[in-house]
Amino acid sequence: MSEQPKQLVAPTGTHDVLPDSSRAWERLVGTFSEMAHQWGFGLVLTPMFEDVAVFNRGIGEESDVARKEMYVFEDRGGRTLALRPEGTASVVRAFVQHQPTTPWKAWYVTPAFRYERPQAGRYRQHHQLGVEVLGTEDPFVDVEVIALAWRFFETIGLSQIRLMVNSMGHAECREAFVVSLRSHLSSQESNLCDEHAKSWSGNPLRVIDCKKRECRTVVDAGPSIADALCEECATHFKHVTDGLTAIGVPWERNVKLVRGFDYYTRTTFEFVSDALDGAQNAVGGGGRYDQLAEDLGGKPTAGVGFGSGIERLLLALQAEDSLRFEKLRDASIDVFVVDTTGGQEALQICDLLRRNGFAADRAFDGRSMKSQLKAADRSGARIALLVGPQELEAGTITIRDLRATDEGNRQKLVPRSELVNVVREAIETSMN
Ligand code: HAM
Repeated sequence: MSEQPKQLVAPTGTHDVLPDSSRAWERLVGTFSEMAHQWGFGLVLTPMFEDVAVFNRGIGEESDVARKEMYVFEDRGGRTLALRPEGTASVVRAFVQHQPTTPWKAWYVTPAFRYERPQAGRYRQHHQLGVEVLGTEDPFVDVEVIALAWRFFETIGLSQIRLMVNSMGHAECREAFVVSLRSHLSSQESNLCDEHAKSWSGNPLRVIDCKKRECRTVVDAGPSIADALCEECATHFKHVTDGLTAIGVPWERNVKLVRGFDYYTRTTFEFVSDALDGAQNAVGGGGRYDQLAEDLGGKPTAGVGFGSGIERLLLALQAEDSLRFEKLRDASIDVFVVDTTGGQEALQICDLLRRNGFAADRAFDGRSMKSQLKAADRSGARIALLVGPQELEAGTITIRDLRATDEGNRQKLVPRSELVNVVREAIETSMN
């Protein structure tokens, strides 16, 4: 006898999204899509994999993501490709390739792949909603991008969010800061954490991101990016923060916010949820990247955007308000049709109801009345429609309120010709 094949499961750090939670996903993505359109963004879809150079040049070969986390592979034609670890570099590559008129406002929803140590809120495949604007350095754009994220969080019901902002300055300010940081770190090498004692010189900015106490102490005693900003960059940053204040988006400055990718210039920002555990509490982040288009072979073009993790948003919603979260993921349908005459009636009735805008479902396989009623309860439907031989003969249908507690008034017989109106009325009543 041949052995049964071993059961296969999703790879470590990935997860399947099944209907018990995918409804919440649909709602988040639907809300974001609506809002992005209100803000004047168009959807952009790019391939899930790119020439590895897009990311090496984009996010920086020395970034942790490029060095340790990228899924790089050779295809059958010998090309070196990488699965997208984030959304920005691909969108900018598409901008450079197609040269659309500017400002170009793109929104996206995409999986992103990073070989991280999996834990709650940190996955090897996560999903991001985001926007990018190319072709303008106007600080009002930074404000719009940040405001879109903020209003989106408000709309989906998150309230325990804090916005942190900073400016890295343009290339020269940034370079001047890196020089003084480098000199500070070289005198403190032996006081850094094990990893950064060895690797700090490759990219000193990474030390600022380090969560280890040793590195924090060294960084606190070192130079601040705030002091390295030229007048123009300081004014740009002031316009951004003034703009946020003008529309009532609260912000706080965090001079240590340098973010993990090398493409950032000037504005950087991050949204953290106070309802989430410290290490994985960022529900979104972004900033300006005024040199990225050029780094990818295009004309000098300023850009700014943000990305927000769908899994993190759902974790934050659940942590803040589990009742609201349950409602968000409620996938219940309106009507369940129970047909004990063979199934043909359920076919007709479901078709009629769906054409009239109701969410309707039914049982299959000629199940018994009892089994179909159980399925109706399980479906979460508000009402069941029952058709047996007697109803069929008389041209009627029994309508049953599945959520009513008063057994006496639970169901009634109605004429089949009135079905759509009766269902509409019953659903409205059960919602009140
Ligand atoms: P990021 O901060 O690396 O930025 O990722 C954006 C968001 O994706 C994070 O704030 C977090 O919510 C979520 N996220 C990141 N990594 C994981 C993970 N392993 N598991 C679960 N969620 C995760 C970017 O990716 C930039 N492209 C954002 C941007 C757009 N900058 C400019 N434009």
